[in-house]
Amino acid sequence: MSIAADGPFGADVCPARPTPPTATPNLITMLLKPGGLSNLIASFPAFWYKARHCEFQVGFTRNGRGVLVNDPEAIKRVLVSEAEHFPKEENQLAVLKPLLGNGLLTADGKVWRRNRKLAAPVFQHSSIKDFAPLFTRAAERSVSLSLQGEGPVSIDREMTRLTLQIIGEAVLDADLDDGTENISDAVTRTLDKFPMIFLATAFLPGQVRDRVVERIVSPTRRQLEPYARRIVAQADRQGSETSLIARLMGAAKRDDGEGLSAAQVRDEVATFLLAGHETTATTLSWAWYLLTLHPEWQERLHDEVRDVAGDRPLTAADVPSLVLTRAVVDETLRLYPVVANLMRRSDREVQLLDDLTIPAGTTVLISPWLIHRHERYWRDPHRFDPMRFLGEEAAARPRHCYLPFGGGPRICIGAGFAIMEAVLILATYMQKARVRVLNADRVMPQARIVLRPNTSLEALVTPRLSVG
Ligand code: HEM
Repeated sequence: MSIAADGPFGADVCPARPTPPTATPNLITMLLKPGGLSNLIASFPAFWYKARHCEFQVGFTRNGRGVLVNDPEAIKRVLVSEAEHFPKEENQLAVLKPLLGNGLLTADGKVWRRNRKLAAPVFQHSSIKDFAPLFTRAAERSVSLSLQGEGPVSIDREMTRLTLQIIGEAVLDADLDDGTENISDAVTRTLDKFPMIFLATAFLPGQVRDRVVERIVSPTRRQLEPYARRIVAQADRQGSETSLIARLMGAAKRDDGEGLSAAQVRDEVATFLLAGHETTATTLSWAWYLLTLHPEWQERLHDEVRDVAGDRPLTAADVPSLVLTRAVVDETLRLYPVVANLMRRSDREVQLLDDLTIPAGTTVLISPWLIHRHERYWRDPHRFDPMRFLGEEAAARPRHCYLPFGGGPRICIGAGFAIMEAVLILATYMQKARVRVLNADRVMPQARIVLRPNTSLEALVTPRLSVG
């Protein structure tokens, strides 16, 4: 059943989530359950939404002990103050490294420290605000495209196309855009095979696992090689620093006189394409879903953008005034954090809380999905209410119970970029249109690499009269 013209939804409706089981998950029950491995959040039992920490079993080995850390103070210690003793989990890295090499997401130790230091200025606010005209221009083109069609639009696909275009232009030089789509398609298609790769990591010994992963990802990596070489050659020729990657190359050159090799450029291009497009696209898709459930919020956002900018194109300077739009983005990332689970592995024994000691070699699960819905820290946690991000209620909340971008030294370097992009896209749409997802009543979140809706979102995009 699709939803009626005015929508059967209202203030009372609760956004979709899987019904939690009563028992703690283990690999056997997850394998037996249809779709169990491809939707981790569906295996989280009801008591995990109240717990501070819990043990679970990972895989079949004797060392396969896992601990869910679900307390803001303990999370802070894992991600921030004791971060050096909680490196990224080995299986996760084994899966991603063959594709992303020593890109920022997967590098560790000295290589990561240097790359992060070089990339930090590239992602500072003063730097990313240069991309605001690109965000607004691409969003305006997207909304007019969506308004042109006769029938419903697959709004999730449109968000993917839009953010792909943006990341293609922002990461790479604009006149290299031929082929961006193919590259990104290849990266995304490889990602879709990851549930299979995860299975391989659970059952296979290290060397066999690595061979399986290598076979799956090597065609994509080969496709990236000539592209990376062209980017290096072009940046050397032009010496311009318009794109993120050219800025990074410039920073590296100033650092040691040599700059980045073609292999390093390839790794960072793949990393930025992978980390920087599906994440924002999916967040925007969830926003359209939530705004369909709560059409009254579309009116509030429309009023806000009209007050701030009337009919003119939005700019970076408008973003701080788009307070409600930002609160909707924050609330969307709370209810549907696209990176729903973070994994770490302790390299020595660490006492996290009075009643929680983590032995060396333990897999630690920190789940934004769970802590964002923890009954102790969130009022009415499963409801959509952007107001919780404004005023005193927001100020009173412990910091590490909200972590859509992770935390500590490995916090998402693109967070500022993503927030500005999402706010400007959402506000540009709300300035000109109404969006209604027709199949909202059939949507369910599914946690693979990113937390996506289980179905394409078919939406009606209808025009608003211009302010005049
Ligand atoms: C709504 C959008 C986004 C979300 C929710 C998101 C979320 C995250 C999270 C949770 C992490 C930490 C993973 C961990 O600790 O294991 C991360 C890391 C990262 N993200 Fe994002 N991200 C988003 C957008 C972006 C964008 C737009 C870019 C680049 C243009 C980007 C680039 C990266 C990179 C390079 C890392 C690795 C940082 C490091 O380890 O030093 N992300 N992201």
